Amino acid sequence: MTAIGPIPTITANGAKIPLVGLGTWELRGRACARVVEQALRLGYRHIDTAEIYDNEREVGEGLRASGVKRNDVFVTTKIWPSHFAPRALERAAHDCLARLRLSDVDLLLLHWPNPQIPLEETLGALCKVRRDGLARQIGVSNFTVALIEQAVQIATEPLVCDQIECHPFLDQSKVIAACRAHGMAVIAYSPIARGGARNDKVLGRIGAAHGKTAAQICLRYLVQQNIVVIPRTSKLERLTENAALFDFALTDAEMAEIAALARPGGRVVDWAYSGTMKWD
Ligand SMILES: NC(=O)c1ccc[n+]([C@@H]2O[C@H](COP(=O)([O-])OP(=O)(O)OC[C@H]3O[C@@H](n4cnc5c(N)ncnc54)[C@H](OP(=O)(O)O)[C@@H]3O)[C@@H](O)[C@H]2O)c1
Repeated sequence: MTAIGPIPTITANGAKIPLVGLGTWELRGRACARVVEQALRLGYRHIDTAEIYDNEREVGEGLRASGVKRNDVFVTTKIWPSHFAPRALERAAHDCLARLRLSDVDLLLLHWPNPQIPLEETLGALCKVRRDGLARQIGVSNFTVALIEQAVQIATEPLVCDQIECHPFLDQSKVIAACRAHGMAVIAYSPIARGGARNDKVLGRIGAAHGKTAAQICLRYLVQQNIVVIPRTSKLERLTENAALFDFALTDAEMAEIAALARPGGRVVDWAYSGTMKWD
């Protein structure tokens, strides 16, 4: 496995975020700790977890085993919507830190909107958690344009991102524009469409022209727009592939061709999750 060069960062409302991070959903136990450790040894400096992933302990273990200094790694975790009442949110944030064995995280997110609890209450608690020093930065995930507008009005601390499903098969231009209007980063989850990018003919053809894989073209398309990507892999040999995105550039024509892959029904994550579901 080849080490990767330095990963560029972007700045958003005061947060410095590495453009590539490691997603960890579904990575569990020893295997999770090993992938996190190896990713950091190779040069990753950003790890994405969540209380619902049931792997914060192992993410923390991987972090310590890597030998990389705590302050050189950007660690994100997320609070599940059943913990959005203020006291529950504060407790959940403490619990995340206890499992990670960290004194703070770089970024703490609301994982999904929860219409059953007033946003004022949840954001009030999230801002307090930041003021109390548990999170260096805070943000949201799966927020629509309307919710972003509400959230930035309510929050008394800067919101630095919306983490959303984002890849070439889904048009997210409206949410991206709303984030940019408020200085927030877009963090793309499922950035290779849960592996779906691998078999796309257009991405494959453009990849062949650059000596890159379809997955790399998919990720490059996003980082070239300053969108942060957090691809997940359980395979150590794919860690380098998913971060080696900064030694080539796509032409304007290639960017346009990839943008045209967006289609209705392009989502890979089920939005039935938000709004309709009972959270506990
Ligand atoms: N905020 C939210 O609501 C939310 C929702 C979903 C995800 N996320 C976060 O975003 C991260 C990434 O999203 P995701 O896990 O849904 O999907 P993803 O990163 O788009 O895709 C992961 C899948 O792609 C495969 N893969 C990885 N690298 C590959 C490559 N170079 N070539 C071909 N296939 C490859 C992986 O298989 P192998 O393991 O076999 O490599 C895995 O099956 C998550 O892990 C999580 O941290 C957040």
